[in-house]
Amino acid sequence: MEFRLKRYERIIVLIVGIMALSCSAEPLWKSYESDFLIGAAVGGRNIAQLLENPKKDLIQVKNLLSQEFNSVTADNNMKWEYLQPRKGQFKFDKTDVLVDWAEENGKAVAGHVLVWHSQTPKWVFRDGWGQASREVLIERMRQHIHTVVGRYKGRIKYWDVVNEAVLVRDGVAVFRDSPWRKIIGDDYIELAFRFAHEADPEAHLIYNDYNMNDLRKAKFVANMVNELRSKGVPVHGIGMQGHWHLEYPSAKELDEVIHVLKRTGTKISITELDLSVLPSPGDYRGADLGKSIEHQEKLNPYRNEAPEDVIQEQAKKYKDLFQVFLDHSEAIERVTFWGISDKYSWKNNFPVRGRTDYPLLFDRDHKPKPAYHALQDLKINNFSGEVDKNRNDPLGRLSYFVLINE
Ligand code: GLA
Repeated sequence: MEFRLKRYERIIVLIVGIMALSCSAEPLWKSYESDFLIGAAVGGRNIAQLLENPKKDLIQVKNLLSQEFNSVTADNNMKWEYLQPRKGQFKFDKTDVLVDWAEENGKAVAGHVLVWHSQTPKWVFRDGWGQASREVLIERMRQHIHTVVGRYKGRIKYWDVVNEAVLVRDGVAVFRDSPWRKIIGDDYIELAFRFAHEADPEAHLIYNDYNMNDLRKAKFVANMVNELRSKGVPVHGIGMQGHWHLEYPSAKELDEVIHVLKRTGTKISITELDLSVLPSPGDYRGADLGKSIEHQEKLNPYRNEAPEDVIQEQAKKYKDLFQVFLDHSEAIERVTFWGISDKYSWKNNFPVRGRTDYPLLFDRDHKPKPAYHALQDLKINNFSGEVDKNRNDPLGRLSYFVLINE
């Protein structure tokens, strides 16, 4: 018996289809609105160029930023070397553009970063011909934090106050011997948080680090944060950078460290998420910018295109990790990707220069990858399985339409 829909039934099916379509036609941030913010880091070396005067393909990146994300981080422009390259000479032009744009477009801003050993000019640690004293360095830190956080008081909600103060050396987590620590002592961390809080008592203050999926490091950071908070130091959040890989972390490993971190009673953010698909040179897993590994052809296998199975595996990995974030969504307040499109990812040059990596949700033509659709599907259908690589439209319209009309 042939099954045929009557005309009015077809119309109903079409209407239901259109309704389903409009339900699925959400930007990524909207799909996760009840769980956490979805952010992106932008800027290259010049945020103003991206936001005010974008060139052809940057217009697409800007549109994706406006459409798909509800939080934004400057990838470079708020670092000390950009904001105060010379003593007392602050340059806020690019950061102003970002904060104005974010406000006009309803995006939260995550300020990155106040105190870090990297991308901080040499003058900060020097005085005359010698090294700055503890008192001088504390005063410079205080002034920098008060000037920067104070300028955006009430406008920048989240601040990465201290970045990468801990590392795992010979299998043991320890404080990094940065110039901050060498000159001021361990209390530089506490002082930084106190100054930031003075400058904006409403701001949400974060300790941020890489390799936070390493249980040794996560436990060390959790202890540090507990100790600081027990002394009344205003630490409100822990940032897991999340420069990860197809091979790590496992969902189980991630779940375990999030359990450890959330016991501090602070909120957790994933602040710099990307998932490299390239061979890891040696056993290097960190994001220490001082690291550079010599280029070898075998480390750059996908110069023109990554194989479909690798891109599918990445989609699955993103989905598995996001499932863990969702399991802990009461403690997680933001997941920020370190970039938007593979074309401009820092991973193309780290830890090996000149490779072609594919770590983000949008490809080199700024089209959504299976990873993007997997994250959408995870919210819409609790989906598991393969993602149709031909689904190119960010809103998923086409695929749902085809499904309805079959
Ligand atoms: C670290 C820093 C970021 C950025 C990335 C690489 O993770 O926290 O500011 O420099 O490295 O782009």
